[in-house]
Amino acid sequence: MGNILVLYDSKTGYTAKMARHVAEGACAVPGVALRLKSVDEAGRDDILWADGLAVGSPTNLGVMSWKMKRFWDDVSDGVWGKVDGKIACAFSSSGGWGGGSELTCMALLTVLMNFGFLVFGVTDYVGRQFTLHYGAVAAGEPRDAKEIAACRRLGKRLAQWVAGYIDGRREALPGPIDTRGE
Ligand SMILES: Cc1cc2nc3c(=O)[nH]c(=O)nc-3n(C[C@H](O)[C@H](O)[C@H](O)COP(=O)(O)O)c2cc1C
Repeated sequence: MGNILVLYDSKTGYTAKMARHVAEGACAVPGVALRLKSVDEAGRDDILWADGLAVGSPTNLGVMSWKMKRFWDDVSDGVWGKVDGKIACAFSSSGGWGGGSELTCMALLTVLMNFGFLVFGVTDYVGRQFTLHYGAVAAGEPRDAKEIAACRRLGKRLAQWVAGYIDGRREALPGPIDTRGE
């Protein structure tokens, strides 16, 4: 059984919607146990429980929200040094394209790397000229099919890596990468 935590912060609900789509994607892989929690609900035990983590934040001034940063500051005692080798990825909703959502993904990945997580991006195209190399991104609410597909693909890929590399189920690893888009 691979344990997946989808952890998010969200002020107006858009990153929360992305988180739900990421969770749907993860659940498409058999044998996943899933927790979907906001930074207000999650704690140290959730991080220790998870084999794989998808972390989402609204883009705030080009980086993660203060609540997401505070979450990691607060849990670092008791978590740091105990999660090395777990797998993690990022997602973000910003006000608009070019508003810094990929920078926010990178900021999230930086924090996760500091804890020793193995972080990844996704090379797949999930729509015309639409990919998630640094994590799933959306402008505002994830409405477009391709934005929703990016979230789902991120969650699915996380669950596939966890199943294949942590849970030892090699048959769950992804097949050929979709570089054409749907
Ligand atoms: C304090 C603050 C800073 C923000 N900074 C940015 C920004 O740098 N770039 C951007 O595109 N949007 C920015 N936004 C807009 C949010 O990223 C955007 O509304 C997002 O969709 C909100 O996600 P949420 O519904 O999960 O809170 C900012 C919003 C707030 C409240």
